[in-house]
Amino acid sequence: MSTLILYAGKYGSTEKCVDTLKKSLTGPIETINLNRDIPPNVSPYNKVIIGGSIYFGQFQKASKQFCVDNLDLLKQKKIGLFMCCGNPENINQYMVEAFPAELLEHAVIKDCFGGELERNKMKFFDKLITGMILKSAQKSGKPSPEILWDSVTRFSEKMNLA
Ligand SMILES: Cc1cc2nc3c(=O)[nH]c(=O)nc-3n(C[C@H](O)[C@H](O)[C@H](O)COP(=O)(O)O)c2cc1C
Repeated sequence: MSTLILYAGKYGSTEKCVDTLKKSLTGPIETINLNRDIPPNVSPYNKVIIGGSIYFGQFQKASKQFCVDNLDLLKQKKIGLFMCCGNPENINQYMVEAFPAELLEHAVIKDCFGGELERNKMKFFDKLITGMILKSAQKSGKPSPEILWDSVTRFSEKMNLA
């Protein structure tokens, strides 16, 4: 049972989650960064995982577009969908806006992997915004976002059983 993982991220959280998924999934696995690589034909794969991160409420464009362009083919596969984001409480809204409804319904699992704000890696504007977000979070006693590793484990377990 071969698996294709397609993902898009900016500062490495999504990639970290993909690396962990890769280690815990069984069978042959190929990973494709949609912001960098040309995606292969999904036809030969049994399972397809699609993920990406959220910026200003928007899911990564490349991941979103891939789902729209390949919807009919994807509906013939075992599908896993995931997101990295700083506000997991908004995940239902992000999911509905990011993925076609038919794909969400068809998916074996859809989950939020949380996220990280690594300011040392960020470009100027993102660093500035992040500084403001973190300051206001601190004031209201909200903890900094972190990757939800239990969710990543649960996701891979479910995909292995699919
Ligand atoms: C400028 C900026 C805007 C962000 N906007 C949102 C947002 O609207 N909602 C959210 O839940 N998380 C938001 N985040 C958090 C990211 O989704 C989170 O840091 C994620 O781990 C990034 O993953 P990546 O490094 O793979 O791109 C934002 C982060 C930055 C730096």
